[in-house]
Amino acid sequence: MQTDVSPNLVYYENARDVAVLAARIAGKKIKEAAGHISPNMVREKGVHDLVTDTDEEAQQLIVDTILEAYPDHRILAEESPDSSNNGVLQAEYLWIIDPIDGTTNFIRGIPPYAVSIALRHHGSLVVGVVLDVAHGDLYTAIKGCGLQVNERKCEVSETSSLAEALITTGFPYRAFNHVDQYLAILKRFMERALGVRRPGSAAVDLAWVACGRFDGFFETGLKPWDVAAGIVLVREGGGQISDYRGNAEPAFDHQVVASNGRIHEEMLGLLSPMQKIYD
Ligand code: IPD
Ligand code: CA
Ligand code: CA
Repeated sequence: MQTDVSPNLVYYENARDVAVLAARIAGKKIKEAAGHISPNMVREKGVHDLVTDTDEEAQQLIVDTILEAYPDHRILAEESPDSSNNGVLQAEYLWIIDPIDGTTNFIRGIPPYAVSIALRHHGSLVVGVVLDVAHGDLYTAIKGCGLQVNERKCEVSETSSLAEALITTGFPYRAFNHVDQYLAILKRFMERALGVRRPGSAAVDLAWVACGRFDGFFETGLKPWDVAAGIVLVREGGGQISDYRGNAEPAFDHQVVASNGRIHEEMLGLLSPMQKIYD
């Protein structure tokens, strides 16, 4: 399934191609470094929040590639000091970038870890590209044009109940004020769903919901760069994405529930005790 095709389609196709080029250039660098990260190459930005030189180098390669094609566009990227600068949110064209989503996995050489790049135009997410570096899978979507995985059309699963659903989630790991509420909800998903996984990259969690590997995903404490590209993928794969109250634009809301659409209401029901919890 797909959303309405945009009159800016040619522009968005070009932007998608630039994002794919940027993701592939960064992906090559990340792949070369994976498995060769020693402890002295890792810094802690915040509690349990790691960064390596490779995150910064990959981000620079992505930003250079994008700004060479679109010098007037603005950037919101995880490893930039001004990333929380609200000014960029007013930009006509805003690229939202996570150079390595799943840095802890990357450091340990555990898949998945991914490059995540999205384009937002006049406040609406229009292009999403996720490159699952370790597996070599490329997920792309343009608003209104469906989801492609390695250039083949793909869509969400047909699973129609939580009892048959394989769910993915992200554990709280930076803030622990609400960990008990999270664990109570996780317990309910464990009891009711077919299974629950924690792969370690929100961008890949969303890509895998979009293409039907998983049936649903939920996490709080997320940042725009974790989810922006994945939101486009899920929508264009025919899925549903919202915050825990069911509001449809979760990119800047720090909590995301994504599904194939068929199990969304059941997921929202289990998540309702955390509706106002964002970390
Ligand atoms: C993290 C990953 C992880 C999710 C965290 C994110 P990072 O991104 O997506 O799966 O649980 O919320 O921050 O820090 O590796 O870019
Ligand atoms: Ca991330
Ligand atoms: Ca990251």
